[in-house]
Amino acid sequence: MRSLSDYQHIFQKYLDKNTFTQSPVELYEPVNYILALGGKRLRPLLVLMGCELFNSRLQKALPAAFAVEVFHNFTLLHDDIMDAAPLRRGKPTVHHKYGINTGILSGDVMLIVAYQYLTHIKPNNKVVKLLRIFNKMAQEVCDGQQLDMNFENRNDVTISEYIQMIELKTSVLVAAAFQMGALIGGATDIEAEHLYAFGRNVGIAFQIQDDILDTFGDPEKFGKKVGGDIVQNKKTYLVLKSYEIANATQKTNLEKLMHTPTTNEEEKISAVKKIFQAVNVRAEAEKVMNDYLHIAFTHIDATPLSIEKKNYLKTWAEALMERQV
Ligand code: IPE
Ligand code: IPE
Ligand code: MG
Ligand code: MG
Ligand code: MG
Repeated sequence: MRSLSDYQHIFQKYLDKNTFTQSPVELYEPVNYILALGGKRLRPLLVLMGCELFNSRLQKALPAAFAVEVFHNFTLLHDDIMDAAPLRRGKPTVHHKYGINTGILSGDVMLIVAYQYLTHIKPNNKVVKLLRIFNKMAQEVCDGQQLDMNFENRNDVTISEYIQMIELKTSVLVAAAFQMGALIGGATDIEAEHLYAFGRNVGIAFQIQDDILDTFGDPEKFGKKVGGDIVQNKKTYLVLKSYEIANATQKTNLEKLMHTPTTNEEEKISAVKKIFQAVNVRAEAEKVMNDYLHIAFTHIDATPLSIEKKNYLKTWAEALMERQV
């Protein structure tokens, strides 16, 4: 296996070669804008790694890696509209910079482009199978996004409903990226299923961490508006676990804060954060992240991959959990 920076470099070169030069520029410039802002490139990395784990040339997986990253960025364009988010990767979100209509339509075209790249996969006898995986995943992401919005208006969301929601909105893409890479690389269906399950559990831990960073992240590094979830009354792990472990007064205060429309954003963020800190919910969230990481590892252990490859994946996942962005 290669170094992570090698994978990043190979993917970046492919991305640079595939910038959008079509017209109308008003549609494609925002696509280039969001893709050029970077991000961690987690999902294409999984496609490429998944392919190489089975000793195949990673060039075969580049169109799928690109499709997955373009799809991810499409979800971000629409997610930022739904979440009224001003910042993404340290820069204005597409709808803040170019307007809501552009955010919608440039997002739409990215979804279509993602499908186009999937049809470029060679050998093309795998395309239908990959499309089935991709379709299922894409629909599930929509399901998850709807649940996420539904939960904004509910105060009785359970932790298991929350886990189901984040599996849908976040984990299935991480999982499918790895599964698709593995299948392109020549994995058997069963091997690819294990990698899917690994990705699914890593994805859950990843979203819990995203929730933690949304409140506790360093505004200089995080690249998104810190406290955005609190402003939107998102039922994150931090909120739901706090309901469980807070005393009666803290719980009533938190419920009130999560119920009322925001008038002063900064005041609300700081009041909610104070409750989170008083009940030490961050430690609880980190514990459960770790639990999911270890479930993920059991799926790696169930594959016939070499010890070196298994350790490579575990080390990668552990390092991902230390992220600040
Ligand atoms: C953001 O994903 C959306 C979530 C699922 C939390 P990433 O944290 O992977 O975003 P980028 O691509 O690195 O910016
Ligand atoms: C991520 O949820 C899910 C999708 C984008 C599909 P978030 O709303 O938490 O993602 P960020 O925090 O805006 O990146
Ligand atoms: Mg969001
Ligand atoms: Mg969202
Ligand atoms: Mg988030």
